[in-house]
Amino acid sequence: MSTRKLGILGFGTVGSGVYESLEKERKRVETLAGFFTIPVVVVKDASKARATGPDTLVTDRLEALFEAEVDTVVEAVTDAEEAYPAVRKLLQKGISVISANKELIARHGEELHLLAAGSGSRLFYEAAVAGGIPILTSIRHTLKTNRILRVEGIVNGTSNFILTKMREEGTAFEAALEEATALGYAEAVPDKDIDGWDAWFKTTILSFWINGAGPEWTEERPQGIRGIDVRDLHLAEKLGGRIKHVASLEGTKASVGPKLVLKDHALYGVEGVNNGVYVEASLSGPLLFQGPGAGKFPTAGAVIEDVINHWTNTAEEEPPFTEPAPAEEEPFPYWF
Ligand code: NDP
Ligand code: HSE
Repeated sequence: MSTRKLGILGFGTVGSGVYESLEKERKRVETLAGFFTIPVVVVKDASKARATGPDTLVTDRLEALFEAEVDTVVEAVTDAEEAYPAVRKLLQKGISVISANKELIARHGEELHLLAAGSGSRLFYEAAVAGGIPILTSIRHTLKTNRILRVEGIVNGTSNFILTKMREEGTAFEAALEEATALGYAEAVPDKDIDGWDAWFKTTILSFWINGAGPEWTEERPQGIRGIDVRDLHLAEKLGGRIKHVASLEGTKASVGPKLVLKDHALYGVEGVNNGVYVEASLSGPLLFQGPGAGKFPTAGAVIEDVINHWTNTAEEEPPFTEPAPAEEEPFPYWF
């Protein structure tokens, strides 16, 4: 088998996590998927110091990826619209892309999938939804016959981290957000987290995977957690619940916003940077997926699994759209 060449586009929290983890796990990855090199890392500012080995060129030139003849690129760039032309170009040239960029996929996923299909390249983005939780893979691999009736998810790690810090420690909103940023959880523009847009993009992707189309939003824009204060969180506790930032997809209808979640709700105990995705499936019943929703290594793990599945040809055609659930179907009760 010839040596694989992987490029990395974006070398912040996620991109550097992928690089470090691949080097740390090189033996295991190579046993599974064959030898690989990482000849090029593309960044915005090539003058910054980077923790890369001598065989990796760090550059701000996208063309370096083509010159190095990489076959796969991990895309972990800050801004979706800056990533978009680069990912288009890569896919058009037959280079497969593993992306963590939910906004890119929510806005342009359909077109990018078509481009990939036309050039024989592939596009994967498990890390884009719910960080370390393999939710798209679960939908793809294990819920094929099931119709998915309803999804409720805490899918923004930053918001959940902030709400948990505020409730448990009385931390002020701004201080909790600063901490989430320092830990690498928040978006470069954290308004996307706290105003609900990040969850909106993730819900859009889930809807495509589940229903084969974007959702019908019940409101024009998402609601975020901005404006919630410690007193609101303590009042919710007195009422026997917690305020959580919840994305809902019921049939084709979707919404994103804070909710009072009572003790018997599947998402009540999902705390800190964790995400939780509750899925009601027609045969399997109620399922809860839970795990770290953001952060360097959980996200890198999700990206690397995509890389290996791609290289070993164990990824399936994506997305395997299922029939939307009929509206009259009775929802399952929670029994977590
Ligand atoms: P960072 O801000 O830490 O890193 C972004 C990287 O993108 C930087 O290396 C930056 O270069 C590079 N970059 C920015 N613009 C360009 C450009 N035009 N061309 C090439 N490189 C560019 O972001 P994250 O690593 O946190 O996030 C990256 C992506 O992953 C985002 O889409 C995010 O939503 C997604 N994601 C993040 C998670 C997390 O926990 N952080 C989890 C799941 C998904 P430079 O270093 O020179 O500034
Ligand atoms: N900013 C995002 C979050 C990163 O906090 O969930 C993971 O997608």
